[in-house]
Amino acid sequence: MFLRRLYSTSLRTVSESNARRWAAIKNAKPISHFLTDNYNRKHDYLRISITERCNLRCMYCMPEEGVPLQPDSQILSTDEIIQIAKMFVSQGVKKIRLTGGEPTVRKDILEIMDRLNQIEGLKEICITSNGIALHRKLPKLAQSGLTSLNLSLDTLVEGKFTLITRRNGLKNVMKSLETALQLGIPKVKLNIVVVKGLNDDEIMNFVKLAQFYPLEVRFIEYMPFDGNKWELEKVMNYQDIIKLIRETHPTIERVAHKHGETSKTYQIPGFKGKLGFITSMTDDFCKDCTRLRITSDGNLKVCLFGNDEVSLRDLIRSNVDEDEILQVIGKTVKNKKEKHAGLDELPKMANRPMILIGG
Ligand code: 5AD
Ligand code: SF4
Repeated sequence: MFLRRLYSTSLRTVSESNARRWAAIKNAKPISHFLTDNYNRKHDYLRISITERCNLRCMYCMPEEGVPLQPDSQILSTDEIIQIAKMFVSQGVKKIRLTGGEPTVRKDILEIMDRLNQIEGLKEICITSNGIALHRKLPKLAQSGLTSLNLSLDTLVEGKFTLITRRNGLKNVMKSLETALQLGIPKVKLNIVVVKGLNDDEIMNFVKLAQFYPLEVRFIEYMPFDGNKWELEKVMNYQDIIKLIRETHPTIERVAHKHGETSKTYQIPGFKGKLGFITSMTDDFCKDCTRLRITSDGNLKVCLFGNDEVSLRDLIRSNVDEDEILQVIGKTVKNKKEKHAGLDELPKMANRPMILIGG
């Protein structure tokens, strides 16, 4: 129903704060050598996890019993998050994404956004959310310059939503999606982790969303993390997904690849939205990876699948001066491997569960 309503209205508005953002972009810094690795990848995208907590328990993300959480004192404070953000932007980072856990469970989310919005040179401020507690906060987030929202949604069927997330709340997610489109957030993406036998029968329903709404529907290959009961047979290869879509939409075509893009984008003529494929399992995008991660306890992590981490929190808390912290960042970035392990190796490697890395 809401889809129909949305389709018949065209409520895109340009938020005032975008004007401020564009002014700030003029002051964007070139990427410094600290953020350039040995393979000449220039890291201008930083993902900051602001909490380990989540109001869902998605089966592909964490074990049923949950994960042991660290005391709040170990998690980055508001000031520390902003300090780290400023440090990276001063070295050329242009895009920051807030992740979690679920970023909206943090009480200071609006303050964090507001303060990020004031950092000169930052071009994009993005959030990844499960949409459960998001829709009321969205107007304020939009005012604070939110440029992109990734919503996680793996099913449009209520019972299955409960099965996958081990909680209720599909209606809330749909409300968040509706609000994001009404507010005219510049980029809205839906993230669907495709698990064979679970939600692969809904692929064409998700494709329909891209037909009628200006959003990017992104299918993600199911990845192994500690405790998520991953099996190779449950991974649906992106090429099989495209083949399936092509049966109904033979005109589907690839959109030219943009620098730093880790997803493969496709369009179907006449569609309002686009389709994307995140192929971490079958076709790594390491050579184009320009992203770095900060975990909620303040570790810099250069690769989602690597265990090399360094605590920026500890350096900040011991009052190490910023030049020295930059040296440490530079050294860690330089150590980034050319590629992460392949399909045969990955499932055997230890890694934090996704919720503790930042989805
Ligand atoms: N495989 C693929 N993507 C995952 N995510 C979490 N766990 C996995 C996994 N095992 C991603 C999903 C989710 C986001 C928070 O993290 O895209 O939407
Ligand atoms: Fe929470 Fe996202 Fe993990 Fe689901 S995938 S449990 S919403 S962090």
